[in-house]
Amino acid sequence: MVQARDGDAALTDPELLNTIALLLIAGHDTTVNLIGNGVLALLRAPDQLELLRSRPDLLPAAVEELLRFDGPIERASQRIALEDMEIAGVRVPRGAWVHVSLGAAGHDPAVFDDPGKLDVARTPNRHVAFGHGVHFCLGAPLARLEGQVAIGALLARFPGLALAVPPTELRRHREGSIVRGLVNLPVRL
Ligand code: HEM
Repeated sequence: MVQARDGDAALTDPELLNTIALLLIAGHDTTVNLIGNGVLALLRAPDQLELLRSRPDLLPAAVEELLRFDGPIERASQRIALEDMEIAGVRVPRGAWVHVSLGAAGHDPAVFDDPGKLDVARTPNRHVAFGHGVHFCLGAPLARLEGQVAIGALLARFPGLALAVPPTELRRHREGSIVRGLVNLPVRL
């Protein structure tokens, strides 16, 4: 990116800085919470945790399910309606702010059987945790890989992994943030 700015002037200074900030925020707060939320979901569903331990080939499907079940980005960035429209019976006037709840979409009973159940072998799994369309997450392949490597290594290395506090004592980041994740996740190894 520095070369693009210095060499052929394809990026201005503000564009360079904003792009770096976007990559750092989009690339770190997300995967860290995929791992945290995902490990918590597995610890709270012991049958699924055992299934995944015995079938590591399910890791890619399991990461998709963890993205659907409790993904790290609760809402997409804000949109503004460019024209009057109607979506699922709701009138959206031109100029209105639109908040897209990716988390709610992942629990839509019209799309997912038994959406409240964690199913590490779920297929198909048409979640929208990485968004949709032109702004679909640039880092999705890296994020998927990070989730598979981190969660796979954690389960393989620590067979006794368990929550160290009751789930009611776990705290989430502040309400209103688009990032959904835990402040910390105390575990016994
Ligand atoms: C589990 C991890 C991740 C999740 C759930 C996630 C989720 C998302 C979502 C939902 C969007 C679209 C937002 C919208 O349309 O309003 C997005 C965009 C983006 N993500 Fe990710 N992301 C993750 C990891 C990453 C990583 C690791 C990187 C980079 C290293 C990254 C870079 C980006 C960038 C640059 C965009 C903007 C794309 C655009 O607007 O064209 N993300 N991400």
